[in-house]
Amino acid sequence: MARYTADSKERVRDAVDMVALVSVRSELRRAGPSSYQGLCPFHEERSPSFGIDPAKKVYYCFGCGASGDVFTYAMETEGLDFVAAMEWLADRFSITLEVEAEDEGAAERRKGRERLLELLDRTATFYSRFLWDSSEAADARTYLAGRGLTQETLQTFRVGYAPSAWDTVLLASRRNGFSELELVAAGLASRNKERGSAYDRFRGRIMFPLADLRGRTLGFGARAMRDSQQPKYLNSSDGEVYHKGRQLFAADLARAASAKAGRTVLVEGYTDVLALHQAGLHNTVGLMGTALTSEQAGALARLAPIVDLALDADAAGKDAMLRAARVAAGQRLELRVVAMPAGTDPAELVASEGAEAVRARVEAAVPFASFQVQRILETANLSNGEGRDIAYNDLRNVLSGVPPSPSRDDLVRLVAGRLTLSEQLVSLLVAPPTDPRPTPTSDSQTANKLPPRAAVVLDRRQQTERNFLALCIALPEAGRDALRSVDLDQHFTSELTRRGAAHLREHLTDPADHVAPDDTEMTGLIAELSVRGSRELASPDTLAVELLQLEMARIEREIASARSSGRLDIATLAAELNTVKAEFGDAVERATSTRAGQ
Ligand code: UTP
Ligand code: MN
Repeated sequence: MARYTADSKERVRDAVDMVALVSVRSELRRAGPSSYQGLCPFHEERSPSFGIDPAKKVYYCFGCGASGDVFTYAMETEGLDFVAAMEWLADRFSITLEVEAEDEGAAERRKGRERLLELLDRTATFYSRFLWDSSEAADARTYLAGRGLTQETLQTFRVGYAPSAWDTVLLASRRNGFSELELVAAGLASRNKERGSAYDRFRGRIMFPLADLRGRTLGFGARAMRDSQQPKYLNSSDGEVYHKGRQLFAADLARAASAKAGRTVLVEGYTDVLALHQAGLHNTVGLMGTALTSEQAGALARLAPIVDLALDADAAGKDAMLRAARVAAGQRLELRVVAMPAGTDPAELVASEGAEAVRARVEAAVPFASFQVQRILETANLSNGEGRDIAYNDLRNVLSGVPPSPSRDDLVRLVAGRLTLSEQLVSLLVAPPTDPRPTPTSDSQTANKLPPRAAVVLDRRQQTERNFLALCIALPEAGRDALRSVDLDQHFTSELTRRGAAHLREHLTDPADHVAPDDTEMTGLIAELSVRGSRELASPDTLAVELLQLEMARIEREIASARSSGRLDIATLAAELNTVKAEFGDAVERATSTRAGQ
């Protein structure tokens, strides 16, 4: 893989005209001395909440929370990985990229890896030819046709067939100059434990090549032809290029369609992916039977911001969806759930209902919150008070994170009816939690982690912390002192803002330049803060206001925890709070009067 120099990256960043880049997708207007705004390219909206800072070359959407720099922008809008995004930008803004000079060892390793990729690619071609040309594969052809898969679909996916002999691939590859060692490293051959001799890993199976985003084959999933062959799917063993749980099946084929549609359909198995692509849903990728890993969630986030989950609707499948939501919460992914009859998968559905009906099902996917609400109501014990309390808390945790919308109203009505709630309890259902501690629930881990699109409606504390940091960037001189005066542990409530504050203490004037390249969370935060800062009316007085807000929030938290642990110093704390409140009032007055006098 090409490794470009860090200098290349910076030259690309320097060359990009951010306004020109974004203007292709969104009409921008000046919104301040160093900011532009327009309709967000990452979510549907009518009034502009997407801001860019063209000097720092970062963006932030006040509506959906999307944020980042020119590289994440290209990755997300074009559906590219980082290297491809860099190449895409370099091409557009006429920069020549330079490849990192490698030391000898690194060059050797890269060559070795390239040979394995070549071996895998040749083997995929071999299996595919064998499927279409050999008489041995006649049953496999009949079987695949019987499942409704056309030759065109099968060839697009390079589906093949592995001969049943023990050494076909081994011998052919040796003839082509590959060693036994390489065959084992590529996951194509296994070694006999006693004799140490190698033999073909895949025999008498239908072969599904798994490729990376650029379409290079990394390994195979191999489906049995008979019940006596176990396991049903044999996968490449983890080796130098294949790692279970890192990839999504068909990400290469779905990439363009996902970017275009702004959403990706996620299914369980290989045949589900093929069936949906054939049904016209070219933005479908497969999990390959694993529980969603954070690497896969990251890969999904790079494809498109919305994921339609078309997983089995049995109880295990539903739990898998809740787990997936927990993993996806780390990414900016909006999950939707496709209604599936229990015990069927999308491939069977295409066969039984037809392509049209399945497309309509996917189209009608519901927001994850609706799915969670239904799931809570289904599993709750609503016949006694305690069960209803638990359900109420769980539901509140879900609903309080959903932004106001007609569909949220529908959910609230549904819940109010099923739990027969008083008007007061109904109104509390959607109120943001006031207690800083999470409400105990039967599964608080799940319920607290909402799909991130909803979660970006920042709570008041996060708003305060981020406004404060934004003003520090906008006013580096006063900001330096302000940052020195805060306590990272006590004044910040999330790991991210805490890390952000620590980072700004060190790099206040050029924060974006010092973020570790793979720290996308920090890159996003810095982008957001820069855009926020260029929008705010920044003055030392407004910074003082934000600082006092932080302090008030800290004391309020302290009081809440004193109350819950029965500590006796509440009166002292309350007095302290009153003093700070008075200072706050004065500061607000100063800030508004200087503003009026400007
Ligand atoms: P399924 O058993 O649901 O298979 O496993 P499927 O995809 O519906 O296959 P068909 O339609 O019967 O041909 C779902 C996925 O889990 C992985 C595979 O990726 C499979 O597509 N799996 C399943 C394994 O990796 N190993 C197994 O033994 C079984
Ligand atoms: Mn199936």
